[in-house]
Amino acid sequence: MTDLFSRISPDKLLPERLNAAEAAQELVRLAQEMAHHDRRYYQEDAPEISDAEYDALRHRNEAIERLFPHLVREDSPSKKVGAAPAEKFAEVVHSVPMLSLNNAFTEAEVEDFFVRVRRFLGLAEDAEIEVLCEPKIDGLSFSARYARGKFVQGSTRGDGVTGEDITENLRHIIPARCHPERSEGSPAVGDLSAMPQDDRLEVRGEVYMSRGDFDALNRRQEAEGKKIFANPRNAAAGSLRQLDSTITAARQLHYFVYGWGQVSAPLADTQSGAMERLKTAEFRVNEEARLARNVQEVMAFYTNLYEHRAELPYDIDGVVYKVNRLDYQQRLGNVGRAPRWAIAHKFPAEQGQTIVEAIAVQVGRTGALTPVAHLKPITVGGVVVARATLHNKDEIARLDVRVGDTVTIQRAGDVIPQVVSVDVEKRPADSQPFVFPETCPACGSAAFREDDDVVIRCSGGLICPAQAREHLRHFVSRNAFDIEGLGEKQVELFWEKGLIKNPADIFTLEKRQETSADPICAWKGFGDKSVENLFAGINRRRVIALERFIFALGIRHIGEGTARLLAQHYGSFGAWRVAMMAMCHPERSEGSHAEGDPSPAAQDDNAAYTALLAINGIGEIAADALRGFFVEKHNLALLDALAEEIRIQDTERPRQDSALSGKTLVFTGTLTRMTRQEAKARAERLGAKVTGSVTGNTDYVILGEDAGSKRKKAEELGVKILTEDEWLELASS
Ligand code: IVH
Repeated sequence: MTDLFSRISPDKLLPERLNAAEAAQELVRLAQEMAHHDRRYYQEDAPEISDAEYDALRHRNEAIERLFPHLVREDSPSKKVGAAPAEKFAEVVHSVPMLSLNNAFTEAEVEDFFVRVRRFLGLAEDAEIEVLCEPKIDGLSFSARYARGKFVQGSTRGDGVTGEDITENLRHIIPARCHPERSEGSPAVGDLSAMPQDDRLEVRGEVYMSRGDFDALNRRQEAEGKKIFANPRNAAAGSLRQLDSTITAARQLHYFVYGWGQVSAPLADTQSGAMERLKTAEFRVNEEARLARNVQEVMAFYTNLYEHRAELPYDIDGVVYKVNRLDYQQRLGNVGRAPRWAIAHKFPAEQGQTIVEAIAVQVGRTGALTPVAHLKPITVGGVVVARATLHNKDEIARLDVRVGDTVTIQRAGDVIPQVVSVDVEKRPADSQPFVFPETCPACGSAAFREDDDVVIRCSGGLICPAQAREHLRHFVSRNAFDIEGLGEKQVELFWEKGLIKNPADIFTLEKRQETSADPICAWKGFGDKSVENLFAGINRRRVIALERFIFALGIRHIGEGTARLLAQHYGSFGAWRVAMMAMCHPERSEGSHAEGDPSPAAQDDNAAYTALLAINGIGEIAADALRGFFVEKHNLALLDALAEEIRIQDTERPRQDSALSGKTLVFTGTLTRMTRQEAKARAERLGAKVTGSVTGNTDYVILGEDAGSKRKKAEELGVKILTEDEWLELASS
């Protein structure tokens, strides 16, 4: 952070040394400086300082604002959300959802698939249905858009509706152009260059790493003391989802195209015909694919591929059958998130035999006691397995699994390895049945079972160190606070060292470090830089959306979806908290019960409780869990402590009926009538989505002054361009 603060006299560097007048002056200076760097970064693509240096400015601004809250201005940089440099991939909303596949494991299930298809199409019971059989590649799916033959955007599947923008990474893997100009003669039949020049094509497929490249990568990683990947799929995922695309470029990744998304004209009449066309257009399609007409033929394909799978250079986990006629596909449509016209016929789960060395009982975030078998390590389907879940007390009793037993374990896809059976013949003579603990192994509190629940739980709540630690891990996890530099391992370490005992401690860590006798930067594996990055990561999360915040609290039964419903309903942290408190501690005037009486009977007729249940999607289980959370004093203390440290953003309900609802906008150049931030907020309030790059998905590009490359891109892609005035008119209509 060389001379960023050079204009400040050394004794004023620490925010604590500033008086109020100096603090006010310093906040103005910081706001100007950050605005300058925002401009350099966002509008001119020419940053002058590193991300860490920018974070230092932001961080200083926040530190001063914390000390002098009355000086926080409406336009403070700390109130700008998203102004921080991207530390994540941008989102891409898929033009056509990326579906998943239903699975079949047995021949009978494959038969059922054919029966369902015939029945749906109203065909005779013995009618032949042609299907294309393809290997099911064990990699990661991607979607790639081409506009006028040029690759313009690539994304991951994500949740099927929204994925991550991995354009730069995919550039290293898939063709840059999909219709190479031929120097002689006319284009081949099916060549996509025969399409009109403004045509668009979106191809979908799988990125994978070959087994050979995987072994070589792991050897390199090991030599360099870096992370070893468990299997080619994880290695491909780790290599593709790199923010720094040069890392992706350095890894050997390949792809196969197996389908398409949005296309401006049908590719063919059949799946196989479309694949042929994609092949002619220079995409890699799998050469193992074959057409089959009935169950016997698909089973022959399946068995043959299963037996020869080791000869393929890449991992496959089954076969996919797709109804070949596209008009049939169209008619069959989808059920939920999977097409009715395709099915994945999975290879049987891989099994192996090993010995149970111990049975441990783990305590989860919500107190669930889960027994886990610690195994003599064994390789199953290319992955070393050392643990298998035993699920719960009943499952242990059912299997009668004991320490010392020889067991068969099974691994199917991504599922946690399971113990399938015990070989009682091999059981040692002195073996003892496993006794499930009656108290929590972590805190000694009584373990209990709720009605109708197979799970046994620790009753210790947050006094249980295991629950508290799991709670913290949840708090920092990806969909919660997602603090860069504070992953599970660090939380574990800080927990053990007593530095972070609850979520609020995360945000006071930096301050406490100033007077620490054993500062983190002196610990093995930490240096000044990594500690600086850690604090920057923490400080970036001092502003958080209400829905993420609610989810992060880790309240039982309150997952992301429920958290979003609550955020949208209550709008602000304050309103939510007041409502929840009213539900737990009803006003005296509301009933005959005493103030603070949290007994369920006292609340069932409580207005706040009724209002909560009236939210579409919130049931009694969630409502009771919320009540259970808010009646606990220590939870309220945690909320207070967090509120001291962070700012929880209100949730605004986007409009559904404006001219901009559902549209994707890009602002470029300098706006003269409002800030970018303001424009973005305004657009979002009107139900639009604002992104940073112009793609085939963009509806409008709004040009400010001195707009550069994005204007060109918009013109190239034929995206509608608006002046600032036109945008304002649309925004106020
Ligand atoms: S077709 C609408 N074909 O398997 C059809 N998927 O379990 C969508 N996969 O998400 C998929 N090889 O990532 C299809 N030949 C293949 C495939 C394949 C691998 C993956 C794909 C999909 C997942 C579903």
